Amino acid sequence: MGDTFTLPFDPAIRAEQLRADLRRHEHLYYVQDAPEITDAAYDALMNELKRIEAGHPELLTPDSPTQRVGGKPAEGFKKVRHSRAMLSLDNAYSAEELADWDRRVRELAGPLPVEFMAELKLDGLSVALRYEPAGGGVSRLTTGVTRGDGQTGEDVTSNIRTIHSVPLTIPAEKLKKAGLPPAIEVRGEVVMPEAAFLRLNEEREQQGLALAVNPRNAAAGTLRTLEPGIVANRRLVFFAYFLLVNGEYMEQGQRATLEALGALGFRVNPSRKLVGSVEEMLQFIDGAEAARANLGYEIDGVVLKVDSHATQQRLGYTGRAPRWAIAYKFTAKSGVTQVTGITVQVGRTGKLTPVAELTPVFIGGTTVSRATLHNADFIERLGLKLGDWVKVERGGDVIPKVVEVVEDAEHPRGELNFAFPSKCPECGSEVVRVEGEVDFRCVNVDCPAKLRESLLHFGRRSVMNIEGLGEAVVQQLLDRGLVRGVADLYSLKRDELIALDRFAEKSADALLEEIEGSKKAGLARALMGLGIRFVGERTAELLAEEFGSIDALMGANAEELERVEEVGPRISQAILEFFSQSANLALIQSLKDAGVNMTAEKKLRSAQLAGLTFVLTGTLPTLTRDEAKARIEAAGGKTAGSVSKKTSYVVAGEEAGSKLEKARELNIPVLDEAGLLAMLAGPAVIE
Ligand code: IVH
Repeated sequence: MGDTFTLPFDPAIRAEQLRADLRRHEHLYYVQDAPEITDAAYDALMNELKRIEAGHPELLTPDSPTQRVGGKPAEGFKKVRHSRAMLSLDNAYSAEELADWDRRVRELAGPLPVEFMAELKLDGLSVALRYEPAGGGVSRLTTGVTRGDGQTGEDVTSNIRTIHSVPLTIPAEKLKKAGLPPAIEVRGEVVMPEAAFLRLNEEREQQGLALAVNPRNAAAGTLRTLEPGIVANRRLVFFAYFLLVNGEYMEQGQRATLEALGALGFRVNPSRKLVGSVEEMLQFIDGAEAARANLGYEIDGVVLKVDSHATQQRLGYTGRAPRWAIAYKFTAKSGVTQVTGITVQVGRTGKLTPVAELTPVFIGGTTVSRATLHNADFIERLGLKLGDWVKVERGGDVIPKVVEVVEDAEHPRGELNFAFPSKCPECGSEVVRVEGEVDFRCVNVDCPAKLRESLLHFGRRSVMNIEGLGEAVVQQLLDRGLVRGVADLYSLKRDELIALDRFAEKSADALLEEIEGSKKAGLARALMGLGIRFVGERTAELLAEEFGSIDALMGANAEELERVEEVGPRISQAILEFFSQSANLALIQSLKDAGVNMTAEKKLRSAQLAGLTFVLTGTLPTLTRDEAKARIEAAGGKTAGSVSKKTSYVVAGEEAGSKLEKARELNIPVLDEAGLLAMLAGPAVIE
């Protein structure tokens, strides 16, 4: 950029800009229930405005956001952005997969130490708890947030407070002793113990209510209950496994993290061990499997985490999971039951999937009454007949599947043959099997099943994240002719929704807000929403990052597409084919017309502070001078030793001296540590 020239700092202009920004964020927060920035970033803006107004009283206006406190929060749960994404884990299902992972880790780690912390994989739901200094020598639990979509969760603090294993306060001296600052975040798993689950279902049965399917669902439902009294009664348990300071994991590594959490008063699962080899991992896994039945709560595997923080950082992350951790999943639980029928489902792409209808059977805590049969070939290979007894497997969250036909004295064979349909069961059109593919597909572009499934897909949490766009709603929208494609969602009217079954003004408004909010989902999610074959979450993210807009992507040829990591000829062909169809181009145009953002969220993180120069002065509450410097530089900013006209911001801590005075003289904005951290966190990526 050469010699930069910075605009002179004009407090009047800055104050007006801050007021406008603050008002916008207040509206997003209080009215739309869709905040774009974290509370800390909001506070930083507010503090900056307060400071300007204090220094220039003539600029203070009666309608300034500094003159008003709060507003009426929305009902239900407030959404809270995570300090750092709550990611998921990659899975391994066998010793071989574990060994592969171990090898990859060692390759990538280079000279850095490789040891693993083996922990139980608790079958609950993860939450993030924030503690902040509250005076009186303690830090207090301020927020408890569910994982949500990984970026933003729901504020369930009042429910979290009822969980006895969650400390409400942590003595400052304990934090100090553990070498921690007063503001920390603890992450872990909320589980419902089996006894509590059984008791809950007994009660529900007596009350004639539907039974909860498994402890995890029951725990999730409980945390989202609006009455903390009910939650208190359900006896949830919280096990802590991560500790974050300013959105970073503890430098001392995972073993030390668990010890520190224990010392702070958290419940940490005692079944854990530092292991150094695949052999030791497998030993731990065997032990966990043996103990599984007697733990009193459900586990579905073992999590292995690289212990050293430096090694973790070197390994980094893939789109949705750390490379430095893996979940070893116990082999699926299975049960034997009878096939009473076979139905054929039509998916979003027209694919026909046969599903076995079963005599309900209880497998691993859940009642299973349907299981996938994958495709016509699979049925043929099994030689499956109606009335056969089959072995059904269920692992974790995956759809139950039929694995084999069981035949013995107690389980005689069935007799009725099943003929795979030659017509689409939903629209009666012809079904075809493309050469080289196993699946039959309905070729009717207007098949109602395809439309229904694409709408459901579009609304999914991992796609456009439109809460409330479930099966019942989609079916009604279609039946009433209100939508004929995903783009029509954006022109739905309030009255039309209120007229739907089980809809009231509140639910209609909520759905409209969700639909409106989805416009900001960004290019990657929109790409998934389009339903291009083979373009899943990760590929969509990579494409969005590379091309930045739908127009650029549409203009790309095969060679350009294949420059993207993970995109080979198969995917590039699918993309080109998709954009070659006029119906798809029309769909993209309608989405654009509706205001759906088809550009990528800018990956600003590494250049967040580009072009800005910071001067640090005084002692900051949590960061050392070197840490602050490193973080500014990592985000593309510069630091300087003295304040001049070229300084963009002065970051002042306690006992800041002449540099602060100089900053005031030159009208250079002053930040505190929170303000700096908010800038580092950046303009929140719009969800
Ligand atoms: S670590 C980025 N440790 O498993 C790291 N997760 O499949 C992710 N879980 O969402 C979390 N026990 O809800 C971790 N000891 C443990 C766990 C655990 C259960 C859950 C957690 C996570 C899911 C990923």
